[in-house]
Amino acid sequence: MTQMLDFNGRVAVVTGAGQGMGREHAKMLASRGARVVANDINADRVADTVSAIIDSGGIAVADSHNIVTGAADIVQTALNEFGQLDIVVNNAGINAFGRFWEMDPDTWWKIFDVSVKGVVEVSRAAMPHLIASGSGRLINISSNGVMGVPLDSAYNAAKAAIWGLGITLAAEAREVGVQVTTLMPVAWTPMTEDAFPNPVIRDAMRNTVPASAVSAFVAWLAHQDTTVHGDTFEVAGVSAGRVAIAGMPRMKVATPTPESWAEGAGLLTQDGELRPFRTASESFRDQMVYLAPELDSVLPADAADVSR
Ligand SMILES: NC(=O)c1ccc[n+]([C@@H]2O[C@H](COP(=O)([O-])OP(=O)(O)OC[C@H]3O[C@@H](n4cnc5c(N)ncnc54)[C@H](O)[C@@H]3O)[C@@H](O)[C@H]2O)c1
Repeated sequence: MTQMLDFNGRVAVVTGAGQGMGREHAKMLASRGARVVANDINADRVADTVSAIIDSGGIAVADSHNIVTGAADIVQTALNEFGQLDIVVNNAGINAFGRFWEMDPDTWWKIFDVSVKGVVEVSRAAMPHLIASGSGRLINISSNGVMGVPLDSAYNAAKAAIWGLGITLAAEAREVGVQVTTLMPVAWTPMTEDAFPNPVIRDAMRNTVPASAVSAFVAWLAHQDTTVHGDTFEVAGVSAGRVAIAGMPRMKVATPTPESWAEGAGLLTQDGELRPFRTASESFRDQMVYLAPELDSVLPADAADVSR
């Protein structure tokens, strides 16, 4: 039986903690002993989150800096108030729907920038302190929208960027003891309440995927004893699974001409056994060996890692 995972002595920043999942993540971590910086651009809502935590006997401070322009200030709040930083949950994000070619470019870039720059800048400001922690945890919130949801191109492009960033940071940060993971959650929150017009979907979400359920998963990932590293997980209510990038069986052409690929189109689009890749090196090495089998004995396992 797993002992209760406690966060005594740990300091966490949760962005977007004024409502929805961020609020639940902040409450969950504080309920288990973490000292929490609850950040949200909406000062009133995040003050409510902090009051709820303090009323339940937890420790938290509110921070209302914008994740894009005030990332260093958010991290500084943790240092000023609690003297250290061990956990960052990059949760804040925004969304708006519209057909790509009809959406006003300023709106498109705002959605992309808030989500991506916010995660990048908060991570950048936090990283030295997460390294100093000795068991730093960085959890980035992406979305299964990376697989394509019509009318949501800015959001999905941003979430794909966050995903790629997280996988790469994980590879870089392993050596300095910071664990980086990415979540693709599904939860009933103000964001989803705004998104889904269909009452059947709304009821299904309201009844099965409370925001608080995702927080249990976040807390597990954030814990100092959790050794998961670099992975991406889908999580919805009481279910979760690892998300992998996988390749279908390859094919070769004798000579690379547009016509030879046209002839092979049927093979390229047919079903077949999936091969999951954990790293870019696995995919790169696999392609090279497929082309030239003799490379199998000379290419290292981390063939795409330019730092080697
Ligand atoms: N709800 C879902 O099913 C779902 C699915 C996939 C991914 N996500 C992601 O999970 C995260 C939380 O989602 P949610 O549904 O709880 O969202 P939400 O809209 O309910 O809450 C997001 C919070 O972030 C805050 N925020 C926005 N911009 C900010 C900024 N610049 N600086 C600081 N705070 C800012 C908002 O004020 C808000 O309180 C988001 O990144 C979202 O994209 C949600």
